[in-house]
Amino acid sequence: MNVTYFGHSCFQLTINGKTILFDPFITPNDLAKDIDVSQIKPDYILVSHGHFDHINDVEQIAKQSNAKVVASWEVIEYFKKKGLENVHPMNTGGTWEFDFGIVKCVTAVHSSGLPDGTDGGSPMGFVISFMEDDVNKNVYFAGDTALTYDMKLIEETYDHIDFAILPVGDNLTMGIDDAVKAATFVNADTVIPMHYDTFGLIEIDHEYLKDAFNDFELQMFNIGEEKTLN
Ligand code: NI
Ligand code: MN
Repeated sequence: MNVTYFGHSCFQLTINGKTILFDPFITPNDLAKDIDVSQIKPDYILVSHGHFDHINDVEQIAKQSNAKVVASWEVIEYFKKKGLENVHPMNTGGTWEFDFGIVKCVTAVHSSGLPDGTDGGSPMGFVISFMEDDVNKNVYFAGDTALTYDMKLIEETYDHIDFAILPVGDNLTMGIDDAVKAATFVNADTVIPMHYDTFGLIEIDHEYLKDAFNDFELQMFNIGEEKTLN
């Protein structure tokens, strides 16, 4: 699996030849000013919830790529009004088999108001299961969430998570200590932190983060960096 980081909570995964972009928030992000949004052309855009720092560039990227947008029913209705037609509404608890793997929408404890004031429905995380070289792999993209015991259900269902992409910035989501518990709850191998340092409310101590995730393989990305993770 190839992983590219575009800042904040925006990752692009390449799985089975398909590119899946999560929560694009690039053009307003000063830290991501070197990223050329016009060159991002994924096959899918998965949107965890309706907050501006997760959806800002969905419309542009979807229109330039014709990517299929996967999100809650309410977030999809918002984007249909902006002219997006290649959409797939889901909701918490639901599973769907796409051509790159199986997506399950899992609990996120957060809010989901859209920029126009309408309700974005339930915020969600996503678990993606796929086969790579005849081995089953599970990726958990937590979205914005608090620590919740529901994460133990992910471990019950999937046994382990190969790659857990977790918010660590505190204040608006869980912070580092709770994210370590989340990684334990889902039985993660590799942890990829997100939702930190973008603005003052979510700045973190990087040394503290590295110490806290000592028991996991921690993969941190510079913005614009691409890695192959196995
Ligand atoms: Ni949010
Ligand atoms: Mn957020």
